[in-house]
Amino acid sequence: MGPPPQHVAAALKTLKTSLKTRLVGAMKSGGPVAALSACKADAGTLTAAAQTAGVKLGRTSHRLRNPANAPPAWAKELVDEAAKRRRDKVPARMTVDRGDGKRGYLEMIGMGGVCTACHGPAADLDPKVSAALAKHYPDDAATGFNTGDVRGWFWAEFSMTKKK
Ligand code: HEC
Repeated sequence: MGPPPQHVAAALKTLKTSLKTRLVGAMKSGGPVAALSACKADAGTLTAAAQTAGVKLGRTSHRLRNPANAPPAWAKELVDEAAKRRRDKVPARMTVDRGDGKRGYLEMIGMGGVCTACHGPAADLDPKVSAALAKHYPDDAATGFNTGDVRGWFWAEFSMTKKK
């Protein structure tokens, strides 16, 4: 299935841009440990801020850092199934009919070079980053990714009737 309705794509774009701006800015000014704190402190706020009327947003993964980012019920099976397949067999976008005009949308988040500092193979992490992760995310499952892997998914919930 194709892209989501325009207003949903626009909200997602706001979220992607604000997350990336915050991450890259913090990496440049303070390095990965400071950026890690920035992500921890601001990811939720930026996500809430990007939501618009009738559009709920989040990020999730089959291997979570923050347990609060667990997939919504409608997305769980898709996220788990995708994790079992090769990336080229996984659709980058999926839309789910949740009944009553409600839709769920998933968009793949690929692992990029800049992500390696905090999600790469454990042996490659700066020891200070490893220590900060152990402190803030004792159940962290979100290291060990390589460039090109499926790191996770943006998700959106919206309704086909309520548009704004
Ligand atoms: C400076 C460290 C750092 C970098 C670099 C980084 N992340 Fe993260 N990432 C985090 C932290 C911390 C969290 C948990 C945020 C929270 O508490 O919601 C996180 C959470 C996530 C999540 C949400 C799912 C989960 O596991 O909780 C996704 C998806 C994600 N990151 C993808 C990426 C991608 C893609 C990149 C590269 C563009 C990236 N990250 C770069 C630190 C980082």
